[in-house]
Amino acid sequence: MEAMAMAAAGAMRPLALLPLLLFPLFLLRPTAFASDTILANSSLSDGQTLVSSGDIFELGFFTPPGSTSPAARFLGIWYKGISPQTVVWVANREPPVSGTAGNLSITGTGGRLVLADGSGRVFWSSAPPSNVSVRSSNSTARLLDSGNFVLVDGGGGGLLWQSFDYPTDTLLPGMKFGWDLTTGLDRYLTTWRSAGDPSPGDYTFKIDARGGSPEGFIWYNGSAPPVYRNGPWNGLRFSGEPEMEPTNPSFRFDFVANRTHVYYTYTASSSAAVILSRFVLNQSSAQRYVWLDGGWSLYWSVPRDQCDQYAHCGAYGVCDAGTSAMMMCGCPTGFEPASPRNWALRDSSGGCARSTPLNCTGGGGGDGFLRMAGVKLPDTTNATVDAAVTVDQCRARCLANCSCVAYAASDVRGDGSGCIMWSSPLVDIRRFSYGGDDLFVRLAASDLPTNGDDSSRKNTVLAVVLSLSGCLLLALGAFFIWNKFFKIKGRFQRTQRLTSFDSSIPLNQVQERKLEVKTRHSTDLNITLFDINTIALSTDNFANSAKLGEGGFGPVYKGELDGGQVVAVKRLSKFSTQGLDEFKNEVMLIARLQHVNLVRLLGCCIHGEERMLVYEYMDNKSLDTFIFDKARSSELNWSRRFNIILGIARGLLYLHQDSRFKVIHRDLKAGNILLDGDMNPKISDFGVARIFGDDTDSHTRKVVGTYGYMSPEYAMDGVFSVKSDVFSFGVLVLEVVSGRKNRGMYSNGEQTSLLSHAWKLWRDGNALALLDEAVAGDGGAYSRSEVLRCVQVGLLCVQERPEDRPHMAAVFMMLGNLSAVAPQPRHPGFCGDRGGSTSTDGEWSSTCTVNDVTVTIVEGR
Ligand SMILES: *[C@@H]1O[C@H](CO)[C@@H](O)[C@H](O)[C@H]1NC(C)=O
Ligand SMILES: *[C@@H]1O[C@H](CO)[C@@H](O)[C@H](O)[C@H]1NC(C)=O
Ligand SMILES: *[C@@H]1O[C@H](CO)[C@@H](O)[C@H](O)[C@H]1NC(C)=O
Ligand SMILES: *[C@@H]1O[C@H](CO)[C@@H](O)[C@H](O)[C@H]1NC(C)=O
Ligand SMILES: *[C@@H]1O[C@H](CO)[C@@H](O)[C@H](O)[C@H]1NC(C)=O
Ligand SMILES: *[C@@H]1O[C@H](CO)[C@@H](O)[C@H](O)[C@H]1NC(C)=O
Ligand SMILES: *[C@@H]1O[C@H](CO)[C@@H](O)[C@H](O)[C@H]1NC(C)=O
Ligand SMILES: *[C@@H]1O[C@H](CO)[C@@H](O)[C@H](O)[C@H]1NC(C)=O
Ligand SMILES: *[C@@H]1O[C@H](CO)[C@@H](O)[C@H](O)[C@H]1NC(C)=O
Ligand SMILES: *[C@@H]1O[C@H](CO)[C@@H](O)[C@H](O)[C@H]1NC(C)=O
Repeated sequence: MEAMAMAAAGAMRPLALLPLLLFPLFLLRPTAFASDTILANSSLSDGQTLVSSGDIFELGFFTPPGSTSPAARFLGIWYKGISPQTVVWVANREPPVSGTAGNLSITGTGGRLVLADGSGRVFWSSAPPSNVSVRSSNSTARLLDSGNFVLVDGGGGGLLWQSFDYPTDTLLPGMKFGWDLTTGLDRYLTTWRSAGDPSPGDYTFKIDARGGSPEGFIWYNGSAPPVYRNGPWNGLRFSGEPEMEPTNPSFRFDFVANRTHVYYTYTASSSAAVILSRFVLNQSSAQRYVWLDGGWSLYWSVPRDQCDQYAHCGAYGVCDAGTSAMMMCGCPTGFEPASPRNWALRDSSGGCARSTPLNCTGGGGGDGFLRMAGVKLPDTTNATVDAAVTVDQCRARCLANCSCVAYAASDVRGDGSGCIMWSSPLVDIRRFSYGGDDLFVRLAASDLPTNGDDSSRKNTVLAVVLSLSGCLLLALGAFFIWNKFFKIKGRFQRTQRLTSFDSSIPLNQVQERKLEVKTRHSTDLNITLFDINTIALSTDNFANSAKLGEGGFGPVYKGELDGGQVVAVKRLSKFSTQGLDEFKNEVMLIARLQHVNLVRLLGCCIHGEERMLVYEYMDNKSLDTFIFDKARSSELNWSRRFNIILGIARGLLYLHQDSRFKVIHRDLKAGNILLDGDMNPKISDFGVARIFGDDTDSHTRKVVGTYGYMSPEYAMDGVFSVKSDVFSFGVLVLEVVSGRKNRGMYSNGEQTSLLSHAWKLWRDGNALALLDEAVAGDGGAYSRSEVLRCVQVGLLCVQERPEDRPHMAAVFMMLGNLSAVAPQPRHPGFCGDRGGSTSTDGEWSSTCTVNDVTVTIVEGR
C-alpha cells in the first residue's frame, strides 16, 4: 500500500462500516501521495476517495440518498464539497456492490479498470481500449479537474479509457456528446431509474447522426416517436434552442459534424474563476445548471412547453406557445387543418394539408416559397443537406425538384449559406417569439401572399396565421356546441383540461367549484372558483379602505376569507376582450406558474362581466413602499437589496424560459414586486397581460405598462418581447440601487431621468455615487463589486436596442457570478434629458424624440 493515492472520505458520511484502519494511514502521510491517482499496484476501496488536483471532483463509493437498500454501494464521481452530493458519473450503474467490500484496481496487464469485491466478483470493468495497444502494464488512473476519470498507459502516456466517453445522465463541460464514427462510439445520456437508483432509466438523449443534418433527440424507452428534438445545428446553435446564443462569453457551444465525428460539446470557463456547470437528463426534463450563490441555479431546461413535444401539431402544423389564442397549433398560409373536426376538439396531431396542390409542370414554375421566420426547423431525418451551395442555389434546386417541399440555409452565420431540402412532410415546427430560423415552404402560386415571397426578405410576414376560414371558425363553432352540450345548471359549467379534452367524463363528476388542471408530470392543481359574495364580503364590498393599490390591470383589494386566510383580490379592468373559456384557460395557465419568487394565484372569481384574480397576500406590501420612502428605505440594507434584485431576476428568468409557458410580464415595476415576511421578493401581476387578449395587431392594441418602466420599442411601437421586460428589470435594478424613481421617458424640464443620471456616473467611472444614501451611509456595509455589477447590469438591460440587451439567463449569470465577464453597456434607451447639457452624442439624442407618440398608458398609482 505504499503508493496509495487516496484521501479518506470518512468525514463525508457517517458510515458505520468504514475501515477505521485507513485513518492512521492517511493522517501519517497527509501530503505524501498524489491523491488524484491510482497506480498500477494500488487500489481504491470503499471509504477512500480520489480528489482531483484542484479539489473540484471526488471519486469514490456512495449510496444515493433515495436508495431503498442502504447497503447498495456505487462507484461514482461527484463535486467535492457540494452538498447535497451531486453525482455526475456512475461506474457500476447496475448491479451495486452490497456492503463495503468494493475495490477498484487496474488489471495486471494495465489495460482496464476493474471493480470487484473481496470474493472476486466483478461488478464493473472499463471497456477495453479500442484501437490502441497497451504498451506497458504500468498504467495509472487519474481523476482530472474536468471531472474526467482517465486511464493512461504508463509506457507512452496514451489514453486507454476515459469516463467522458461513457456518460451517465450528466454532460460536463469538455465532454463530447455524440459519435466517433470510426470506432462506433456513441456518447449519450440515460436517465437514472429513480433518485435512489442509478441503473439506466427509460429516457435517453442521443444525437442521431443518420439524418441529413444531425439532431439531438430525447427518446422514451427507445421507441418512436421521440419525446423532444433540439433541431439541426445551424452554425451557431441548435435550431430549436435559440437561448443558446453566445451572449455570455464564459460559455461556448460547439458542434462538429464531419465524416469521422459528430458531436456537441460546450465549455464554461472564465479567466477569473471556475464555473461549475452541468447538463442533466431526468425523467421530466433536460436541465442546464450553473453553481451560483451556494446552490445549483437552473439556467435552462427543455421541454419548455407543449410546443416542445415532438410533432405536437402534426405534419405541417406550427406550434406557437406565445399565442394568446386558445390553440397553440396553427397552419401556415396555404395550409388548412387536415381534419377540421379534430382540430376543433383540440386534437391537432393530424396536422395540416395543402389548400392547393403544387404545380409541378414546367419545372415547378407555377410554385413559390413562403418564408416562415423565427421557427425551429422541421425534423431533418429525411432531409438532404449540401453545405457547399448558396441559399439561392438551394432555392433553385428545390424549385426544380418536384418532391422538394421546403428548404432552409444549413448555416445561418453571415448572410446564410448551405442548403437543407425536405422532401417528406414537415414535422415538429414551432415558432419562437425570439430567435429561431427562416424556413421557406413551397406553395402553389395562388396560395402565396401577395408579397410573401422571399424575394422581399425585409418583409417580416407573420407567416403563421390561423387560416380564418378553416380552423378558427370551426373552433369557435365547436366551442359553442361544446358549451351547450356540457352546460349544467348553476354558475359554472364544467371542468376544463388544458392538455387534452376528455369527453368521456361523466357529468356527475364535474365539480362545481374547482377548476382542475392535469399536467403530464406534476400533480393535479386545483384552483378555487370564488363566489362573488365571498369576495365582496371579504373586501367590505370593495371598500376604499381595503384597497391595496392599483396596478396596470386594475385595483387590488385586501380581503379576509372565512377561515381567516388573508388574500389580495385583483379586480380586472373591463377592457379584456376574452370570453369566459379563454379567461379560465388563462387563469389556469397563470396558476401553473409556480416559483418562490412569484406570488401564488389561489383562484378567480367570475361574475357577469366581472373578472377577478385571488392571490396570496404578502405582509410587507410592495417594494416601492420601501425604496422610495425616506423613513423606511434604511430597512433595506445592501444585502437585502441585492437579494431582492437576485430574486426578481430569478422569478423573471422563470417566467421567460423555465416555466412551461413563456410569459412576458409587460408591467414589471417596483409596485408589482411584493415582499414577504422575510423580505423575499415575489413578482405579482405576471401573466395577466395574456388575459387582455390578442396581441398580434400592434396598431389597435392598447399599450399596457407603466410610465418610466416601458422600453422605447414598446412605448413607441407597441412591440414587446422578453427584451421589454429586461428593460423594465434594468430600471428596477437602478431604482433599488439608488432609491430613486426613474422619472420616465418624458423629460420634465431640467430634471434628468435616473437612467441618464446612472449612465453619466457610469461613464465617468463614478457609478458608486448612484448608491442610495440610506445604504451608503450604513458604515460601508455593502459590497463595492456587487453594487458596481448591479449598476452595470442595470445599464445593460436598459440599452436602446432590444437586441443589445441581455436575456434574463445572462443577467442572472452576471449578477450571480461577479467574476463572470460582463460587457460594457451602451447608451440607455430614452434620453430623458433632452435639452440637457451633457448630450455629446448627436445621433443618439436625435433618436430620442418620443414626445409626439400617443400611447394609451394605464397608469400605475
Ligand atoms: C508500486 O509502484 C511504484 C511505482 O512503480 C513503486 O515505487 C512502489 O514500490 C510499488 N509498491 C508496491 C507495494 O509494490
Ligand atoms: C483490491 O484488489 C487488488 C487487486 O485485485 C488487491 O491486490 C487488493 O488487495 C484489494 N484490496 C482490498 C482492500 O481488498
Ligand atoms: C486503428 O487506427 C489506425 C490509425 O490510427 C487505422 O489505420 C486503423 O484502421 C484503425 N483500426 C480500427 C480497427 O479502427
Ligand atoms: C511507471 O510509471 C511511473 C509513473 O508514471 C513511472 O515513474 C515509472 O518509471 C514507471 N515504471 C515503469 C517500469 O515503467
Ligand atoms: C420499455 O421497453 C421494454 C422492452 O425494451 C418493455 O418490456 C417495457 O414494457 C417498455 N416499457 C414501457 C413503459 O413501455
Ligand atoms: C472531424 O472533426 C474532428 C474534430 O474537430 C477532427 O479531429 C477530424 O480531423 C475531422 N475529420 C475530418 C475528416 O475532417
Ligand atoms: C427532474 O429535475 C427537476 C429539476 O431538478 C425536478 O423538478 C423534477 O422533479 C425532476 N423529475 C423527476 C421525475 O425526478
Ligand atoms: C402550372 O405552371 C405552368 C408553368 O408555369 C402553367 O403554364 C400552368 O398554367 C400552371 N397550371 C396550373 C394549374 O396552375
Ligand atoms: C422519414 O421517412 C420514413 C420512410 O419514408 C418515414 O417513415 C418517416 O416518418 C420519415 N420521417 C420524417 C421525420 O419525415
Ligand atoms: C429530388 O429530390 C429527391 C429527394 O431528395 C431525390 O431523391 C431526387 O433524386 C431528386 N431529383 C432530382 C432530379 O434531383
